[in-house]
Order: sequence, then C-alpha cells, then structure tokens
Amino acid sequence: MDILAEANSLKAEGHPVISMAVGQPSDPAPASVREAAAQALAAGRIGYTDTLGIAGLRRAISLHYFHHYGLSIPATRIAVTTGSSAAFNLAFLAMFDPGDRVAIAAPGYPAYRNIMEALGLDVVEIELEGEAYLGAGHLKAAHEAKPLKGVLFASPANPTGAVIPADDLRALVETAHELGIAVISDEIYHRLVYAGADVSALSFGSDVTVINSFSKYYCMTGWRIGWMVLPERLVRPVERVAQSLYISAPELSQIAAVEAFGATTELDAVKERYALNRELLMRRLPELGFALAAPMDGAFYAYCDVSRLTNDSMDFARRMLAEAHVAATPGRDFDPLAGHRTMRFSYAGSHDDMVTALERIEHWLR
Ligand SMILES: Cc1ncc(COP(=O)(O)O)c(C=O)c1O
Repeated sequence: MDILAEANSLKAEGHPVISMAVGQPSDPAPASVREAAAQALAAGRIGYTDTLGIAGLRRAISLHYFHHYGLSIPATRIAVTTGSSAAFNLAFLAMFDPGDRVAIAAPGYPAYRNIMEALGLDVVEIELEGEAYLGAGHLKAAHEAKPLKGVLFASPANPTGAVIPADDLRALVETAHELGIAVISDEIYHRLVYAGADVSALSFGSDVTVINSFSKYYCMTGWRIGWMVLPERLVRPVERVAQSLYISAPELSQIAAVEAFGATTELDAVKERYALNRELLMRRLPELGFALAAPMDGAFYAYCDVSRLTNDSMDFARRMLAEAHVAATPGRDFDPLAGHRTMRFSYAGSHDDMVTALERIEHWLR
C-alpha cells in the first residue's frame, strides 16, 4: 500500500507511472452487469436483502457450480457476501475460537494473516521454501508439531499464481479431513487458469468452506460482492454472524452480479489479454534478472526472486518507482521471512503498458 500511495502521488504530479502493483483488473464490469445495475437504480429503491443474499443470485451461483464444475450445490448452502474479504471474517468467526491454530502458506495473501490476528487466532505460517504450493506433507508436519484447527489456501494463489494440481488438492483436502482440520479454500482466482480446468475443493468433500468473489475474473472489485459455499452445519452460524456484521451484501451489486455468469464471451476476451501479457512477462522478466519464484499457472501475477538485483525488495521497489516510474509490489507483506528478496508483478493491465514497463525496467537496470 505504501508503494501504491507513492505511485498515486507521482501520478498526481503528472508522471507517467505504470502500475503493476494493483491486484485488480483494469477492465470494467461486463456491459450486461452494468446495464442490470442501471435498470435497478432507475427503478428506485435499493434496500437490505436476506442476509444470505437474493434468491436469484444464490440460484445463479448454484447453477454456476453445475455448469462450470459439474457439481450439484444447493442454493441453500450459498451465502452471498460483501466481497470475499467479508467471507473471511464470517468463516473465521463461525469456524474458530480465539487461540485456535490456523495454517496458511507463506508467501500468501496478507489479509489472511491480518484478519486472523485481529480475531485472536493463532496464525501458523507454513514457509513453502521454494515449493510452488501447500501440500498434504506440509499440513501433516505442521499438525504433528502442534495440532491445527484449520487450514486456508488459495489456488490459483496470490502472490505466486501457482495452481494446486487436482491430485494434490485431493490429498490436501483428504489429509485435512483425516486429521480433523477444517478446510477453507479461497477460489477467487478460478477461471483465471491458463492450462487445464478449474478444480474446486468441493469436488473432494462437502465438508469444506469455499470462498469466491466477483472481483477478479468478473472484473467487479469495486462492487464488493462475493460468496461462500458452506457445509450445511455452518449455514445458520454464518447467517447469524452476517446479520450482525453486515446485514446483507449491497442489493445493487447482487442484482447486477446475476448477469456476470452470462458474460463469459466478454470476460474471456479480457483473460486472453492476460494470457498475452503472461507470455511476455514469462519470457522477459527472467531475461532482466527477475527469476520466476513460482510457475505463472493462474491469476495475473508473476512472483519473482530478485536476489540477483537486491537484498531489499522494498527499497528496490521504491527506486524502481521513483526512477523508472514502474510500480510493483515488494514481497515482505506476502512473506515476512523471505519477502525481502521477492517482488510481485501484476499483469492485469493493458498489453501496451506491459511492453512499456518492461522497456523502462530494462533501461533503468542498465
Ligand atoms: C487471494 C485473494 N483473496 C481474496 C481477495 C479479496 O478480494 P475481494 O474482497 O475483492 O473479493 C484478494 C484480493 O486481492 C486476493 O488476492
């Protein structure tokens, strides 16, 4: 966020900053989504909804599981949330008690750690030490060292873009089940996988909590709308916590989001641009000295080992921004231990911006 703030103030001064720091699509929400919102707004009153969401959206999400994954998920197990960020709060509050040990991977999305700490959970960061993703072995070892209550992982992941292959995902979910560890699977980057099909943790058991969102593939970050798929026994507890914390997700966004599942032609065109950007970064970043620290399987991130260039990624990111006017994210927040030698580049921007950014970085490094 510090780098983003500096990038914004440079932009305000008129400098042509290219941001590869933000984890959000540069495209607007699909036209049909915006049209539905415009109509709802014109029709008048926008109010509270049922806490778990409007019936039409819960039904649309249920259908999405059938069409996209071949899974039958009843709408009654779906909770619509104010982005996946709210879903994390709800899941942690409904599933855990203060002091419970919950594992996450390092590197990982910083808000996991921050929200858990705010709620008094004991965060167990499992260092991946060069491995691409969290596996059943990591989970067993951490549980043997001191028992875990839960595990949270994302595939594709932020910041690495790594995807857990189906067999390993099955082993991870089944091992957690055998050890009595509750599973939360963050599937926010589904539909942004560049080879192979999406596999949901729900394929390996109904006793997992899945969190997803309209923010990434659906280009709806600012609409603050996401969802959870819950085991039956958690539906009522989540509903009760959500009633007090949020009342409901914004009705306007819920009405609009129903249309998102029908906008795949438009959204796949956006994804094709990410794919083009990905090809470019995969080739050019290592040539410039940014070794890839993880395979760029999904999402829209390249996570790089910058130890050939610096041993302080924060300072490096600041200088790159000030001198080359390219913003990227230093690794420290993703990984407090090893993040001083990593950086994350987002390729959600335009292709021209990616080309220019790489040219600037090359020139700057020379
Ligand atoms: C892995 C991951 N999960 C969740 C989120 C939060 O997304 P939202 O609250 O917009 O759904 C992000 C945002 O960058 C993310 O990278």
